[in-house]
Amino acid sequence: MRMTPAPAVVVHRQDYSAPAFAIDEVKLEIFLRPQGTEVHTQLMLRRLDRAARDLLLDGDALELLSLSVDGEVLPAERYSLEPGQLRIREVPESFVLESRVRIHPQANTALSGLYYADEVFLTQCEAEGFRRITWYLDRPDVLARFVVTLNAPKQSCPILLSNGNCVASGEEENGWHWARWEDPFPKPCYLFAAVGGHFHVAKDRFVTLSGREIGLELYVAERDRDACEQALQSLQKAMAWDEKVYGREYDLDRYLIVATDSFNMGAMENKGLNIFNSKYVLASPETATDIDYQGIESVIAHEYFHNWTGNRVTLRDWFQLSLKEGLTVFRDQEFSADMNSRGVQRIAEVRRLRAAQFAEDASALAHPVRPDSYKEINNFYTATVYEKGAEVIRMMHTLLGVDEFRAGTDLYFQRHDGQAVRIEELLDALATGSGRDLSGFLRWYSQAGTPRLKAEGHFDAQSGRYLLRLQQQTPATPGQEQKLPVPIPVRLAFFYEDGSVAALPAGEEETILLLENTANDWVFGPFARPVVPSVLRGFSAPVLLERTDAQAADTFLAQHDNDSFNRWDSLQRLAHKALLAHIEKPTQGLDTGSLSAAYAAALAQARQDPAFTAELLSLPTEDSIGQQMECIDVDGIHTAREALRCALANEFSEDWQRLYEELAAPYRRDGEAMGARRLRNLALHYALAGGRAEAAQTWAERQYRDADNMTDRLAALQLLAFDPHYDAQPLLADFYKRWQQHPLIIDRWFSLQLGRVAPETMQRAKDLLQHPAFSWRVPNRVRAVLGAFAVNLSIFHARDGSGYRFYAQQLRHLDDLNPQTAARLATVFSRWSRYDAQRQQQMRAAMEDLRSKDKLSRDLGEILERSLG
Ligand code: TRP
Ligand code: ZN
Repeated sequence: MRMTPAPAVVVHRQDYSAPAFAIDEVKLEIFLRPQGTEVHTQLMLRRLDRAARDLLLDGDALELLSLSVDGEVLPAERYSLEPGQLRIREVPESFVLESRVRIHPQANTALSGLYYADEVFLTQCEAEGFRRITWYLDRPDVLARFVVTLNAPKQSCPILLSNGNCVASGEEENGWHWARWEDPFPKPCYLFAAVGGHFHVAKDRFVTLSGREIGLELYVAERDRDACEQALQSLQKAMAWDEKVYGREYDLDRYLIVATDSFNMGAMENKGLNIFNSKYVLASPETATDIDYQGIESVIAHEYFHNWTGNRVTLRDWFQLSLKEGLTVFRDQEFSADMNSRGVQRIAEVRRLRAAQFAEDASALAHPVRPDSYKEINNFYTATVYEKGAEVIRMMHTLLGVDEFRAGTDLYFQRHDGQAVRIEELLDALATGSGRDLSGFLRWYSQAGTPRLKAEGHFDAQSGRYLLRLQQQTPATPGQEQKLPVPIPVRLAFFYEDGSVAALPAGEEETILLLENTANDWVFGPFARPVVPSVLRGFSAPVLLERTDAQAADTFLAQHDNDSFNRWDSLQRLAHKALLAHIEKPTQGLDTGSLSAAYAAALAQARQDPAFTAELLSLPTEDSIGQQMECIDVDGIHTAREALRCALANEFSEDWQRLYEELAAPYRRDGEAMGARRLRNLALHYALAGGRAEAAQTWAERQYRDADNMTDRLAALQLLAFDPHYDAQPLLADFYKRWQQHPLIIDRWFSLQLGRVAPETMQRAKDLLQHPAFSWRVPNRVRAVLGAFAVNLSIFHARDGSGYRFYAQQLRHLDDLNPQTAARLATVFSRWSRYDAQRQQQMRAAMEDLRSKDKLSRDLGEILERSLG
C-alpha cells in the first residue's frame, strides 16, 4: 500500500499543541538492502490527551506491509492512510503498535531518511527525515528510548552502528549478521542514526573530568585512513573545552563519527553517532588547506557541543531551532577563538555574518531568528537562525560577563535536562542565573531585519567632554512593516590623537553602553585633550553602523585602534569608500590616499601578526561592495576592485615581493605558520596584478609545482586559474591527474575553473556538467559547480540573462533528485530587487519559469514563492 505525500501547508508557531500520545520506547529492527530495506517498528504508546481517540502518525514515501496493535493484526476499518499520515482509530490507553514497512535507500537521492551512497547505508533525520524510515510522531517534543537492531550481509556491511551502546550482536547462517544498540537517553527521533557498511576505524580516547574513559571512533573510507588526526584532536580539544568553560561532561562510553561524501549539509549531531560531510573530517597537509583544518576543528566542536545544547536539552518545536543552533554556534565560535587568534576569528565571523545574514535580512527571504511560519522547515536552516542567533547570545554574554553568563547556563542545564523547551526557557535561566533583566532580547528573536545604528558625536573643547548620541532604526521586512527598538550593547573606548587610550573617569579603558530606546545621549569625560571614539568594538551587536565623523576617524582608527575588529573594519570602510566613489565617477580616477597610509602602517608591522595583517590588507569582496550600493553595478564593481588591486600592487610592489620572499618556509601547521602562508599568498595575489605580473606568474607556477602543502599549491593554482590573461589549462590538467582519487580535491578543481571573469566561463560551466567526474547525486560536487558559478557575479549576472537561465535550468533538474539542495542553491535569486530593471526582470522570469515545473518540491516551491513576493 502506497501513500500520497503531504500537501504543502503552512505551519504556524502559534498553533502549537502538545502531543496527544507519548512514546515510551521504540524498538526498531532494520534489514538493510539497497533496494528494499524492511523496517519493523514497535512503539510503546501511552495516551496523554484524554480527548484523543485516534492516533495520527507521520510517514513519507513508506510502503506499508503490515500493522498490528498489541499483537493483533489491524483490520482495514481500524486504520486509514491520509496524505502524509496514518490514522489508527479508537486506540486503547496504552498499547504496542507494530508496523512493517519497506523503503528504498538506493533510490533515495534526497539524502533524507535512510539512504545508500558509495556502498554505505546512512541516515539523516533532522528535521523530518525519520518519517521516511517508519511511521512515527515525528516532532522534537516526543522523547523516547530507542533499541535498534540492524541486520545486513556481513560481507558488504561488516560495520553496523546506531546510537548509544552496542548491547548484543550475532551471526546468521545465511551470511547475514546483526548488532543491537540501546540508547539510555530518551531522545527525539531527529537524533536517531543508523549506519552500515565497510569502514576503516581510527580510534583514540578521552578521559573526562570525573575520570571516565571515553572511546573516540572515526569511521572513514579505507583510502582515507591517514586523514583522521585533525578530527580526533579537535574532538579531544572540544571535550576538554566544554568541561572547562561550561562544566559539561560527555555522557556515553563511546563517541562515534562517520564520514561520507554524500551529505546535504556540514554535519549532524545524532546522539553518540555524528554523521559528517567528509569535508569536515578528512585532512592531511598534502590534501587539505589551512582553512579546511580550521573548518574541521570548528564543525567537530559544533556537533560535540550539541550533546548538551540540542540533545540533552532539546527543542519543543522547530520554530525554536535557534535555541540549539544559535547557542551552539556561539559556543563553537568561542571555542575557535580560544584555540586560535581571537581577533582574527571575530573578523572572520563578522565577514560571514555580513555576507550571508545581512544579505538574507535585506532580501525577500528575510525572517526573524524565530520564524512565525514555514512550509518546509529545511528552508529555515539559515544564516539568520544560526549566525544571527549566535550574535543574540553573544550580546547577552557581553552584557552579563563570563561568570554571570555561566551561572545562567548552569541553571538552564539544571532546570531543563531531558526536556524539550523554547527560547523563553533559555532567556529566563540566563536572567534568573545572572539576576539581570533580559526580557528585551526576545524582540531580537521576533523581529527580522538588520537594525541601523547611527552614532553622532563631538568633542567639546571647552568642557573637555565628548557627547555621543546613538539612534536606532530597523527597516521594514516582508510582512513586518513596523519595527520597535531592540537592546543594543555598544562597546566603546576613546583614543587621544597620538594613538594612546583615553581612560574613562572611573579608570577603565572601555565601557559598554546599552541602547534600549530609539535614541539616547551620553556624556563622557572630561578628557585632557581631544578624543576619537571607537564605537561597537568587537562588533558587539549585529547592526549596520553609520558614523557621521567617518573619513577622518576611519583613517585614524585604521592605524591606531587596539581593538582588532574595529581597526580592520575602519580599513575596510576606507576601501569601500574609495571603491564606491570610483564606481560612481569612473573618470575621476581612484583616490587611494588614506587607504595608502593605512596599508603602509600595516605593512610596516606585517611580521608581528601575519594573519591579522592579511585580514587588514585583503580587499573587500565584490559581494560586500555590492551590499553598499542601492542598485548593484556588477560590472562597475569588478572593474573598480581590479583597479584598486592594481593600484595597491604597484604602490607597494616592493613590499609584496619582500613579503613573498621572506615568508617562504617549510610546512608547519601552527597558527604562526598558517598566518605566514596567508600573508604570503596575499602578497602573491597583489604581485600578480601589478606592473611585474609576468615575474609573479613564474613565482606562482613554481609555487604550484614545488609546494609541500595544499594551501600553497591551491592558492597558486587559483590565482592563475582566475587570471584572464593566463592560460591555466596545463596546470589544471596536471592537478586533475594528481588528485583524481580525492573527491574533496576534485570538488576544488571543478570550482577553480569557474572563477574567471571571461566570456568562456559560461561554456566551461556547461562542459563541467558533462565531465565524467560530475555527479548530480553528490551535493558537494553539485555545489562545486553551481555554487561557484553563482559567486562569479559577472557571469551569473551576465547582462543577457544567460547566467540566470543556465542556473535555473540546472535547479530544475536537481529539484527532482535533491529538493533540499536545490532550494538552498535557489536562494541567490532572492536578492533580485537590488539589481537594475533588466536584470530584475530576467531573474524573476527565471524564477517564474522554474516555479512552473512539474513536481515542484515543497522546498524549492517555498523559496521561489517567498522570493517572488
Ligand atoms: N543540526 C545540524 C547542525 O547544525 C545541521 C542539519 C540540519 C543537517 N538539517 C540537516 C545536516 C540535514 C544534514 C542534513 O549541525
Ligand atoms: Zn548545529
